[in-house]
Parts: sequence; structure tokens; C-alpha cells
Amino acid sequence: MEIENKIKHVAIIMDGNGRWAQQQGHQRGFGHENGVESVRSVVEGACELGIPYLTLYAFSTENWNRPKEEIDLLMGLLGKAIAEEVDKLHANGVRLLTTGRMENLPEDCQVALQKAMEKTAGNTRLNLVLALSYSGRSEIADMAKAIARKAVAGDLNPDDIDENTVRQHLYHPEIPDVDLMIRTGGDVRVSNFLLWEIAYAELFFTPVLWPDFRKDHLREIVTQFSTRERRFGKTGEQVRAH
Ligand code: IPE
Ligand code: IPE
Ligand code: MG
Repeated sequence: MEIENKIKHVAIIMDGNGRWAQQQGHQRGFGHENGVESVRSVVEGACELGIPYLTLYAFSTENWNRPKEEIDLLMGLLGKAIAEEVDKLHANGVRLLTTGRMENLPEDCQVALQKAMEKTAGNTRLNLVLALSYSGRSEIADMAKAIARKAVAGDLNPDDIDENTVRQHLYHPEIPDVDLMIRTGGDVRVSNFLLWEIAYAELFFTPVLWPDFRKDHLREIVTQFSTRERRFGKTGEQVRAH
């Protein structure tokens, strides 16, 4: 489908696991466990739709403020899911990447992720980016630090700093801007996700809780996306003239 292929980058805020579990009288962790199946389905869907980049918000910097038991459970699930899924991801041509402050993750998660990234480094069908210990504001602060260092070292003239300089110093300058950002779970907010990269993204908010979200939901949103007119500041007439 032509329109769908124009999407280069979909980013998803996977929210609503805790409420999904609690609605059924379970602990929040039950929701996180069931969220893994949603990730599987959405990754498959992204492959089928020919989307080249999919970024999943799995753990924010702010999520470190949750109860220790919940953090431990999430990190355990992460390590387990990576170890279990890496062969299938590799067989399906998925390249795994991460964004965020990986150094804050438990050692075993870092090792599992590193191995999975090395194994899948040559794949080109889908770039699956896991945002872990991620904060959009931290990414911007890290970018400022990197640029300031170059300026102090005399490698960069502050008068030459432009949008492209900023982009080049973000965590993944090679990844295209987000075209479509989806948040599940019914809340209408961005929660510190990819602040620079969503500047012109189309935003979709769905009440579906993450453990219920499947590739058919993604497909439906992608179809809706294709009916939106992205004007990038121009008039509708200008855009339609092309
Ligand atoms: C999203 O679900 C998963 C993470 C933030 C790690 P939540 O755990 O935030 O679920 P709700 O929003 O409390 O229902
Ligand atoms: C956003 O969900 C972070 C992830 C999905 C990983 P939260 O549940 O942490 O967001 P807030 O705190 O309700 O905004
Ligand atoms: Mg939440």
C-alpha cells in the first residue's frame, strides 16, 4: 500500500499495563507480562506494513521512581524477553537498537541487549528501537553538552550551530523524524518521549490498554494516518498541488 510505505518512523508509548491488570483483579506486574505479546504482535505488524523504524517507549527515566518490586519485575521481563525473542527477531530481519541511558540498566539487561544488537546489526527489514531509561529532556541536555564540548575545544563555532547541528548530536541522528506517534491507555500526553523528534509527528491516542493492543489496531491507525493532510506549515492548496 503506497501511503503506508511513506511512513518511515512510528513511535509508540505503550501505556496502560497496570490498569489492565488491576481491572481484572491482578497485580500490576500481570499487565507488564501480558504486554510482551502486544510487542510481538506490533513488531510483526510493522514488518508487514513495511515500516522501517519502530520506536517503543518501554521505560522512562521517571519510571525509576516506581516501587522497587515493580522496577525489578520490569527489568527481569526485559532481560527474559530479549533472550527469548532474539532468534526470532533475527530470522525476521529485525535490527534491534536502543535509545536512552543504557548505563542505568542492570548489568544483565545491558549484556543481553548488547548481544542482541550485535547479532541483529546487519538486518534491514525493520529497525526496532527500544527506549529504555529514556528521557527526551535528558537527550536534549546530552546534546547540549556534546555541542558545548566541541565549542570549548574550538572544533565548532557557536555561530554555526543550527538545527542540523542539533540533530547530529542527538542519540540517533541517522533515524528519521517520527511520522506517527501512538499512545495507548487513554491518557493524552507525551510524557517526555522523543521531544525533538516528534516536532511534526501526527499524534494518535487510543483508549485501548497496551496488553490489548495488537497489529490490527496498528493497521487501523496507519489507515487513519493516511487520510491526514500533513501540511508542514504550508497551505492545503500548496500541498495538494503536488
Ligand atoms: C506502561 O504501563 C508500562 C510502563 C510505563 C513501564 P503502566 O505501568 O504505566 O500502566 P498504567 O498506566 O499504570 O495503567
Ligand atoms: C510513559 O508511561 C512511559 C512508558 C510507557 C514507558 P507512564 O505511565 O510512565 O506515563 P505517565 O507518568 O502516566 O505520564
Ligand atoms: Mg502509565
